[in-house]
Formats: sequence, structure tokens, C-alpha cells
Amino acid sequence: MTLDAPNPTGETLQKAAIRATDLCFAWSEDKEILHSCAVEVPEGEFWMLLGANGSGKSTLLRLLAGLLQPTGGEIQISSPVGFVFQNPDHQLVMPTVGADVAFGLVNEGLEIDEIRQRVEESLSAVSLGAFQRRPIYALSGGQKQRVAIAGAIARHCDVLLLDEPTALLDPDSQLELVAQVQALVKKRGITALWVTHRLEELEYCDGAFLLEAGKVVDRGDPERLKQRLMQTEEVED
Ligand SMILES: Nc1ncnc2c1ncn2[C@@H]1O[C@H](COP(=O)(O)OP(=O)(O)O)[C@@H](O)[C@H]1O
Ligand SMILES: [Mg+2]
Repeated sequence: MTLDAPNPTGETLQKAAIRATDLCFAWSEDKEILHSCAVEVPEGEFWMLLGANGSGKSTLLRLLAGLLQPTGGEIQISSPVGFVFQNPDHQLVMPTVGADVAFGLVNEGLEIDEIRQRVEESLSAVSLGAFQRRPIYALSGGQKQRVAIAGAIARHCDVLLLDEPTALLDPDSQLELVAQVQALVKKRGITALWVTHRLEELEYCDGAFLLEAGKVVDRGDPERLKQRLMQTEEVED
């Protein structure tokens, strides 16, 4: 499914693969977490979602993935959707790399040869082609995140949602992962939304949203948002 965005002159603007309007979410009546959020990510682009701890980033991502139901507003998203969690140990369930990626395909009703081919191809895409038989416990944090991403690629996901995938990584693996996801998005026409609070990751994305206390308060050029956030940090210091 892709989403057309007709403008008033009738021309079709760039298609959005993720679009949410007026999105609201509350755990209880007196605790609204998201207030009328709007996000739109054009097909084939890599966008980031920034915001302080507790601003609602994970909640927004879970709503987009359909893991939570909104209390108001609308979501349109191209499917299938892949989700990468902050902690890969909460996501990888099988003992070895190849088995984990194959496990994600269980419900697809595929022939065994097709499964084998998709596992090989998706692991090569994240530079883990030689790791099929490797036990999960023997991997580094960055390698585990790449196995989770391979799982989404094997399922031929249109959209990839990543919730602070670099939070537990050292600085080198962090930048390696963001560069790899950027390259994958461009090569495969995947649309990705990546949650982070690390400003140095911003230079890899096409655009970004800034979430403050459950509201999207700014969006667009990553460099401009970076400057805005650096000024805020200086004021807070
Ligand atoms: N299961 C939950 N029940 C109640 N409140 C929650 C739950 N999960 C998150 N929250 C609250 O929702 C707010 C936003 O959380 P979250 O989306 O995790 O923020 P972020 O990812 O930006 O750190 C926080 O105030 C958090 O305490
Ligand atoms: Mg979070």
C-alpha cells in the first residue's frame, strides 16, 4: 500500500509511506502522553524522531507499528512494517543468527528454499553473511541490532521503525549502524523512522521531527534542528 498526497492543483506530491494526523494517546484520562501529533515520512526516505526522555518517542513509534491503539487521530502506513527495539535481547528469540531470521518468516507460508534464500540475502545486506550459524550470545550489541534489521529485510518490510537502536552501543558501532541503515534505505527503497537523542546521528537522515512533551513542535531540515537543540542544551548547561 502506498499513499498519494494530492495537492490543491491536483498534482501528486511525493508519496508518504508513513502518515499520522491528529494522533493522541493516553494511558488514563488524566495522563495524555501524545497530543495531536502529526508526522509524515516520504517514501524511500530516512527520518529521525528526536526528543528528551519521556517526551513520547517510544509511544509514538508503537502507535505507528500498531502495537498500541491511539485514543484519537489517524495512521496510514505502508506494510509490512518492521520494528527494531532499543534492546535486541528483547527481540532475538532463537539460539542462532540464521534461525532467528528464519523464525520471523514462520507465518509467511514460504517454501523452505525461499526461506533459505531470504535468510542468506538479508544477512548479507547487513554484512553478516558469514554469521548464520553463530550463536546470538556471541554477538556484539551492534551485530545483534543488525540481525534484528535482517529480520525485517527478510520479511520484505516497506517500513522500518527503529526505537533508539544505538542506545546500548559504543560510539563506533553506533555510527556504523546508522550509516548502514541509511545505505539500506537508499538501496532498497525502504522508508525508515529512527528514534534517537544523539545529535551526531542527525547528519545521516533526510529530515527529522522534534517531539516535546507529547507534541511535534518542529520538523524538517536535520541541520537546522541540530542547531536548535544545541542552543537548547547550552541554555540548560
Ligand atoms: N506502560 C505505561 N504506563 C503508563 N505510563 C507510561 C507507560 N509507558 C510509558 N509511560 C509514560 O509515557 C511517557 C512517554 O514515554 P515514552 O514514550 O517511553 O517516552 P520516550 O520514549 O520519549 O522516552 C512517559 O511519561 C512515561 O512515563
Ligand atoms: Mg523511548
